Formats: sequence, structure tokens, C-alpha cells
Amino acid sequence: MTTAIRPKTSVGSVGVAHTRVEGRDKVTGAARYAGEIPFTELAHGWLVLSTVARGRIRSVEDGPVLAMPGVLAVLHHGNAPRVESDFIGMLGVPPDPTAAVFQHDRVPCLGWPVALVVAETSEQAREAAEALVVHYEQEPHDIDFHAGRPDAVEADGTMPAVAQKGDAAAALASSAVVLDAEYTTPEEHHNPMEPHAATARWDEGRLEIVDSNQGTAWVAGELAMMFSLDPGAVRVVSEHIGGGFGSKGVRAHQVAAVLAATVLQRPVRVVMTRRQMFSLAGYRSPTTQRVRLGADPDGRLRLLEHDSLSQTSTVYRFVEPGAGPARVMYDADAHRTVNRVVELDVPSPTWMRAPGEAPGSFALESAFDELAEKCGIDPIVLRERNEPEAGPVSGLPFAGRNLLACFREGARRFGWAERDPRPGVRREGRWLLGTGTAAASFHAGALPSTATVTAHPDGTFTVRIGAADIGTGARTALTLVAADALETEPERVRVRIGDSDFGPAGIAGGSMGTRSWSWAVMAAARDLRERLALTAGIPPEGVTARSDTTDALAALAQRERHSFGAQFAEVAVDTATGEVRVRRMLGIFAAGRIVNPLTARNQLTGGMIWGISMALHEEAVRDPATGGHVGPDLANYHVAAHADVPRVEADWVEDTDPDDPVGIKGVGEIGIVGAAAAIANAVWHATGVRHRALPIRPDRVLAAGTRGAGNA
Ligand code: MOS
Repeated sequence: MTTAIRPKTSVGSVGVAHTRVEGRDKVTGAARYAGEIPFTELAHGWLVLSTVARGRIRSVEDGPVLAMPGVLAVLHHGNAPRVESDFIGMLGVPPDPTAAVFQHDRVPCLGWPVALVVAETSEQAREAAEALVVHYEQEPHDIDFHAGRPDAVEADGTMPAVAQKGDAAAALASSAVVLDAEYTTPEEHHNPMEPHAATARWDEGRLEIVDSNQGTAWVAGELAMMFSLDPGAVRVVSEHIGGGFGSKGVRAHQVAAVLAATVLQRPVRVVMTRRQMFSLAGYRSPTTQRVRLGADPDGRLRLLEHDSLSQTSTVYRFVEPGAGPARVMYDADAHRTVNRVVELDVPSPTWMRAPGEAPGSFALESAFDELAEKCGIDPIVLRERNEPEAGPVSGLPFAGRNLLACFREGARRFGWAERDPRPGVRREGRWLLGTGTAAASFHAGALPSTATVTAHPDGTFTVRIGAADIGTGARTALTLVAADALETEPERVRVRIGDSDFGPAGIAGGSMGTRSWSWAVMAAARDLRERLALTAGIPPEGVTARSDTTDALAALAQRERHSFGAQFAEVAVDTATGEVRVRRMLGIFAAGRIVNPLTARNQLTGGMIWGISMALHEEAVRDPATGGHVGPDLANYHVAAHADVPRVEADWVEDTDPDDPVGIKGVGEIGIVGAAAAIANAVWHATGVRHRALPIRPDRVLAAGTRGAGNA
């Protein structure tokens, strides 16, 4: 059952709010997640992680554990089948070798998977895993992340390490105003509500995995390469996913489950615990970023420099590209932006909602606020003065750039015009009040995808696509897109997703999911309608059309393509305790055509709420002595909860991608971009003190004090 808030009209379904097509299944518990789907003969694996941060495994004392009740096997580097990890996967990057479990005796970080205990029940497996004694030859570790590490290197990732134009020295020399500041962000974790879970089984020579991931075709392809199998010999199913945020790709749990299913010839399930996710599921690297801006007295930029350092593991190079947003946002006579990494004895970081843009925008958009203060001009005016005509470094035209429209609409609705720019002058009892703003941008791309659409004799349609709905509402969006393309009502369209057997498709990532899949669905639906026009009647098996967008996407390369946004925040700072409370937030976005206002708003406000979390709460702390986390769980790692979240509003301005068949750009990530900076800028406006280190904890607020005109 679906409930259209507004029934099908002549204007179509895209753009009309629609509740999630699987919403009823989710709230009634009928929707089953990867860790709860029953299998006969199911065995349970429990991962054992290293307790040292660097060294070698000397021995795994599996004998006593094998004698424990229900224990079936203990897999480790001494007995596990071989796994391949030296290849380039669908996304153009190699797999993180952390997923290629039990292949050698080296330990590169604390929390490295060293064994899998398999038993008849999950409880027996856990008990035995906790009893397993592993001896290590421990070596000194280095987890000391800080600016100025001599071993930091410039590093390409999804973008070149360095982008520059013009003469930086000359631009600096001619700048009347210079802002030079360092910003830091801590290690942050995805923490999707549903932990990673996979069940693997062999079915007549075919490997089947029920999993929770962001792309079944992607995970199936990677597992086929890891186990040297024909791509058609692996099927991955992932129907409902309780959040991913970048963490749900190929990880240790699927590979361990496949290894155990192969050895035992039984279905084996491996589920990560919340604590294990802190070292096995990736995370956002801490960053230290230096921004140097040189400007004329009126704020026009002559120099824009952004140097961003992140950490990676010693086994895998992941670059958190914090310097990326500067390449898109503002023009300057001279640009120099650099991403660098340092390899430490830590787990591998990975993509996490708005990789690069989330921490990068904190530094850049805080620096812009500081420059506005130095120049004595309004922060929105400063952005207007530095609005580029074309890509500031690429020189490519923009495929729509409605940043200023977002600021205009946001300023109007937030009441920005009435703002007194002086810091530290608004008091309400023991609270100091302030407001702040920041800009947002996120790359708008698309990935090749295939889809099939089948017309049935009863007038209904079935869409099949290897899409993943990780909570975004993608399944519903695709239903609306298909309904319009087929000129029918959403109620007549069934969208089946989350199965690699539906063919190659892009991932739910990079804000590209709904856009990539909609493109493929549109193409197949159009083809189907043409065929139906030539068909006298629909046979019992239906009429099916298939699409592949691989060639069509080339059109996107001709322009710079981004979503933009303007973030506004109001905060209250408790001068007695140092607590910062966000009172309200408003985000106005130009993020392409909005397919489903209901779920799109949910995506945008979800990102903004994560921005509150990033600004004020989230911080994974490592103990230098052990190299491991202090309190890796939701009791100690605070994410914004209801009590932290006030009135958060998201809306958008007209912005249609001219090169996309539906006009979509993508809304998954831009909500978090700039959100932390808007809050930090509001904290400055409240207190008169700049906070350049996230999170803005009470102790930091108390230590920094206040410096407002009203407190002088
Ligand atoms: Mo997202 S970090 O592309 O899942």
C-alpha cells in the first residue's frame, strides 16, 4: 500500500510529495534486514580483532576454543583460503585490504581482523571469540596526527592532489587584507543504525550473499574478483539498508562469511558489533587545514590557498580531500589548493557523507567569515563579491550555479537583514546569542547503470534495477520517475531493487544514486513505450525493455556540475557551562530537480542535523598508549539526538540540471556541507571568539572565554 499525499494529476508524480513505498513494511517490522533473514543450517561467525596497534601474530591458540560448545571452526591467517585484493574495482579504486581478511600475520592497527570463530549460535560464537587467545609480537606504533608532520605527502584521490593558477606570491603581496588560519576536525564515524551484516552461502556452485550495502552490483563484482569467480557466479541481495553514509561497501564481514561458508559448506552469517564498526567500517579522517586568503579592502579575493592534511592507514591510501571545495567556490587571481596525507598505524578511513566537502567547508567557510569580519563587510556580500563566472580553476562553465539565489532566499527567510554584525552583544540571561551563515556545494555526478522495465497485461509495470535504498527514499523516487515516464500512476509501478542479478548499476554514494538510476529507468521506460506503441497486445510474460546509460553520461563532462546551498544557524552559548545550543537552522539549496519533496527534505535536514553533530558533538578519541579508541560506542561517541536538534528547515530554489533527463543533481550529501561552519560562525557572533577546532565542546568554549563588545 502506498499513500500519495496528492493523487496522480496531469502534472505527473515527480515533484509531488509521496510517502515511502516501503514505509508500511518498515514501521510494521515486515521489512527484514540482512542480519535477520532466516536460513536453514545457518552458522554464526564472530570476528576477533587485534588488541595491539602494530606487530605480528605469533600464534592463535584455537585448540581450547574448538572444544567449546557449538564451535565449528576458527579461521585465521594460518588456515584461511587465499583471497585476491590486488585489483581495481568498479569505482576505479582498489579494495581496502582490511576486507581481505586472514591473509598474513601482520597487524597494521588496533582492531585489525585476526580470526573468525564460527559456531552453531551467535552466542556460542561470541563466547568463544572472546575466549580466543592470540599472541602478538608487538612493535611501537605511531598514531600521532598533527599539522607539520614531515612524512606528509601530497596525494591524489578522487581529484588531483594539487590545483593551482596564477602567481600566489604576487597575489599575496598585493593583498590589503590577509587571513591566515588553521582549522582542525576530529576523527568521525558513520554510525548507521543498522550494523554491517552478511550471510553467505553456496547454492549449486553459485555464491549468494544477503548483505547490507550501498551497491549490490559493486559488492558482487568486488567479491567475484576477490574469490576469482566468474561475475555471474556471485549474487548479492540487499533489500533494506539501515543507513550507510559511505561505510557500506566490501568489508571484512562479507569476506569472512564467504570464507567460512566455503570451508564449512553451510550458510554463515557475520554481523559487526557497534564497537567493531569503529575499526572495520571506515571513518572520516581527522583533518588539519590551513587556509590563507588575500583580499582587497572590499573583500575581492586576490589569493585563495587551502592546504588540507588527513590521515590514512599503512595498508590503504584514502585521501579526505578537504581542499576540494575551494576549487569550485570562489574566484581569485591566484589559487593553490593541496590535499596531503600521512600514513599512520590506524584503521583505513573511507568516504563519509560529503567526503572532503564536510571538513573542507568547515575550514573554508569559517575563513570566509573571518575575512568578512576583517574587511568589515557582511559575509553574504563577501560571497557575492567572489562569485565566479566559470569554474575558478577548471575554467569550465557551470551547469547551473544558483548559490546567490540560495543566499537571497535564505537571508529573507532567516531575517538576516536585521542582524547586528557586532559580536558578543546579545544576551538572554546567561546565554549569549549569535547567528551565522556559510555556503555549501557538492559535486553532481552520475554513474553508469542498467535497468529493465516490464509492462504486464494487467496494466501494471515492474522496474528492476540494482539500486540501493539506504534510507534515502530512492525506491520511492524511482517509482515516481518511472510512473511519469510510463504516463501512469505510481500505484501501478513496482520497483524492485537491491539485487545484483538485476544488472550493473551505480552505487548509493556520492549523491549520485537516485540520479544515476533515474536516468536508466527513464531510458528503459521510453524504450518500452515505443515498443508498446507497436505491439497489439501484451503477452503473459510481459514486454520488457532494457537500458544502459554508459554512453549517455559522456554529456556531463563538458561543464562544472554542482549543487549549491546557503546555511544559516542561530545559537545560544551558555557562558556558565560553555554549552552551545543550536536554536534554529535554515538551509536553502539549489540541488537540481527535486523528485520527492518529502524524502528530499528528509535528506537535507538529515545532513544539516549531522552538521550540528559535527560542529558540537562528534569526536572519536584515540589513546596514544594503545592506539585504540576510548569508548568506541554510542554511549561515549555522542551523535546529535532529539534533544540537540531544534527547528531545522530545508528548502530549495528552482534549479534543474540541463543535461539530466529528469533534471536531477542529487541531495544526499549537500545538507551537511557548510552546516558546521554556519554554527561555528554563529558561535563567534555570540561570543566574539573564533573556534577553529571541532567539535566546539563546552570545555573549549569555557577555556576560550568571550570577547564581545558587550563583555569588554
Ligand atoms: Mo556517500 S560518503 O558517497 O555514501
